[in-house]
Amino acid sequence: MEQDLEKLRSSAAEDIAAVSDSRQLEAFRIAYLGRNGRLSALMKQLGTVAQEDRPRLGKLANTVRSELEKLFSDKIVSLAGQAVRAERPDLSLPGRRTVNGRVHPVTQVMEEICSVFAHMGFSIAEGPDIELDYYNFEALNIPAHHPARDMHDTFYIGESTLLRTHTSPMQARVMEKQQPPLRVIAPGKVYRCDSDITHTPMFQQVEGMLVDKHISFADLKGVLTVSLQKIFEKELAVRFRPSFFPFTEPSAEVDIECVICGSEGCRVCKRTGWIEILGSGMIDPEVFKMVDYDPEVYSGFAFGMGVERITMLKYGIDDLRLFYENDLRFLSQF
Ligand code: PHE
Repeated sequence: MEQDLEKLRSSAAEDIAAVSDSRQLEAFRIAYLGRNGRLSALMKQLGTVAQEDRPRLGKLANTVRSELEKLFSDKIVSLAGQAVRAERPDLSLPGRRTVNGRVHPVTQVMEEICSVFAHMGFSIAEGPDIELDYYNFEALNIPAHHPARDMHDTFYIGESTLLRTHTSPMQARVMEKQQPPLRVIAPGKVYRCDSDITHTPMFQQVEGMLVDKHISFADLKGVLTVSLQKIFEKELAVRFRPSFFPFTEPSAEVDIECVICGSEGCRVCKRTGWIEILGSGMIDPEVFKMVDYDPEVYSGFAFGMGVERITMLKYGIDDLRLFYENDLRFLSQF
């Protein structure tokens, strides 16, 4: 029996060294210290040994038991220590960067445009994306059956509601509420049922209007020339081309010299050296009548510009769709 106890001692020491998790430790406990374990089996033999050997062997068995218990409890402590060490942060690792979001390039340019006009005394108004047919068309001298109402351009929502196709409904909304003199810009999203390289179903515009006594086309030209030069941060050439809008008379489309090729002629300006940048005109007396302004007393001008287009020209981007694909490799450059 003495030999058996010695064997037990040495095999326990070997086995405990190989234990590396709590599951293995429990198996060890059951095998050596459990009720049907190897130590209990030896203890049971104690009754069969010679009387005179019994006290010595009993003592030895108890010593082995306390040694096994100590092996077991030491292992509990060392496994717990390992677990804590595994969780402890490694302070020598480099820190994790927090990824900062940033303002979308079109929103950045929108804000720049607003700030240019704010410096010229314009206040900012915002209106609904879901607009009444009345403000989007009727109040702007676009009666029923006008081609601009064509289903191909407009997302209708109901009988008299739609997604605004331009920011011009803000002309009527602002003038209805305020009396002249007024200087207001209205930035916002607009929607047209159109999608290709140069059109997205949603894009953004900044509308502007100025109404007072004695406002002439010269004021329109002056304000737009200066503001475009400020927006592009360059003394660029600006030209006014006769055009037509139902809510302005006379109307003009405004071109700037091609900032891509410096007017040499390129793909973007279709070899003309000029790029169309906004629509504008003197507010039509019919529109003034809709908002109860006296066209004999007041005159004013309005304009609307596409913000994506301006952003593309400022940054030399040639595909409009890049703005709305949410590719971070593109967006994080701004
Ligand atoms: N609303 C016109 C458009 O979307 C632009 C415009 C605004 C023209 C104001 C004249 C006056 O194209």
